[in-house]
Amino acid sequence: MTRNVVILAAGKGTRMKSDTPKVLHEVAGKSMLAHVIDNSRAVDAERTVIVVGFGADSVINSLPEDMDTYVVQKEQLGTGHAVVETRGFLAQQDGETMVTYGDMPLITGDTLKELFAYHEAQDAKATVLTGIATNPHGYGRIIREDGAVTKIVEEKDATESEKAVHEVNTGIYVFDNRLLFEALEKLSPANAQGEYYLTDVIESFVKAGHRVAAMELANFDESLGVNDRAQLAVAERIMRARINHTHMLAGVTLIDPATTYIGTDVTIGADTVIEGGVTLAGHTTIGKHCHVTTGSRLVDATLHTSVIVRASTLEGAVMEANSDCGPYAHLRPGTILHEKAHVGNFVEVKNATLGDGTKAGHLTYIGDATVGKKVNFGAGTITVNYDGENKYRTEIDDFAFIGSGSRLIAPVVIGKNALTAAGSTITEDVPEDAMAIGRGRQVNKLGRAKGKPHYKGQ
Ligand code: UD1
Ligand code: CA
Repeated sequence: MTRNVVILAAGKGTRMKSDTPKVLHEVAGKSMLAHVIDNSRAVDAERTVIVVGFGADSVINSLPEDMDTYVVQKEQLGTGHAVVETRGFLAQQDGETMVTYGDMPLITGDTLKELFAYHEAQDAKATVLTGIATNPHGYGRIIREDGAVTKIVEEKDATESEKAVHEVNTGIYVFDNRLLFEALEKLSPANAQGEYYLTDVIESFVKAGHRVAAMELANFDESLGVNDRAQLAVAERIMRARINHTHMLAGVTLIDPATTYIGTDVTIGADTVIEGGVTLAGHTTIGKHCHVTTGSRLVDATLHTSVIVRASTLEGAVMEANSDCGPYAHLRPGTILHEKAHVGNFVEVKNATLGDGTKAGHLTYIGDATVGKKVNFGAGTITVNYDGENKYRTEIDDFAFIGSGSRLIAPVVIGKNALTAAGSTITEDVPEDAMAIGRGRQVNKLGRAKGKPHYKGQ
């Protein structure tokens, strides 16, 4: 049967006390809405409609290209009203529609798939995903008679005996699409919040004699709805723990999982060791047998096999097999370290390729450069790539030896096996096998330093 998905993301999230729409707040480095969208892919829906409202422009901008169908709910009149707004896309469709909320980042794709399967197996017209809450405060309560669900009552409308119910509405449902839109037309805002509640659709189905089923969530953690920053932190902790657990079971050693921050879209090979105090974010990909030490932060980085990163910052950099960097290296976008290349302490590399076995051990800046294999950079080398307006490239061929303190004024080419003398300012190309010296001559003024205070204190 055709499947549709509706994701409600129009609310301001008043309790977040934020200028940012609630659903754009991040959990494990990805917006809550992006989590919900990505997890909903598991159900293979024909169409997904996202209801936006507060901060519509920024929410719309955040949508992935293949899931960018949205409607704008101008006034947030309630979850039922929000679904009504999708009628232009959905009201005339057959099939089933899942409704889920954009503030529930922990729901997994597996659960959503299971909910559809359960709904179909039960031959139900509506199925609500429920959970047993230790503290049900704030949730809609599931009211049953003789075991069968009869309605959902919101906290603010509940009687004392209804409040005592621990089975709650997680906020995820599957409906027969046509019956859903029929029932939505009949909603009334006659309740404590003056809102059109989606939850009232359940009672209306029961009254009309349509079969309503309920599937209980096995792991209640998944249903956490984030309404304030304290719940955001809880979601963060649970999501981190879940991600870290998956990596550990896949053969990754995390020395201190509690302080290891791994994003949802990160992959790590077996036998890699990640120390505590490490952040792996974005689409970072790490191969097997790597080692990343405390204080490292990798965003969109790619490490091949047996790479070592010591207390370094990587953004969009690629490190091939057996290369290493740090401590305190900064590898910026466009950096490629080929096999066995070595970048040491206080070295910054940007938009540059370092060939096999090339070494830059200390205090060096390599920007906009193409460097061959087995090149040696002495300490304090700088590629002078920027004249205030334009950037220029430096090319260094295989086996070149760049003396300490060289300044390579780009554009410039250093030939194969060439050498620049320490302290040189290189403004012209250096041919293959040549040695370039570009520095002022030293003059010694005898006796001139005598009697000058060189050192103060004891
Ligand atoms: C809702 C449910 C409650 C359930 C709980 C689970 C209703 C009436 N209540 O309550 O039964 O236990 O979720 O977390 O549905 N939204 C819109 N437009 C609106 C109103 C809300 O898009 O006009 C969106 C919000 O952005 C949010 C979601 O719907 O993502 C849920 O709204 P929220 O106000 O958080 O509902 P709860 O009070 O948590
Ligand atoms: Ca909520």
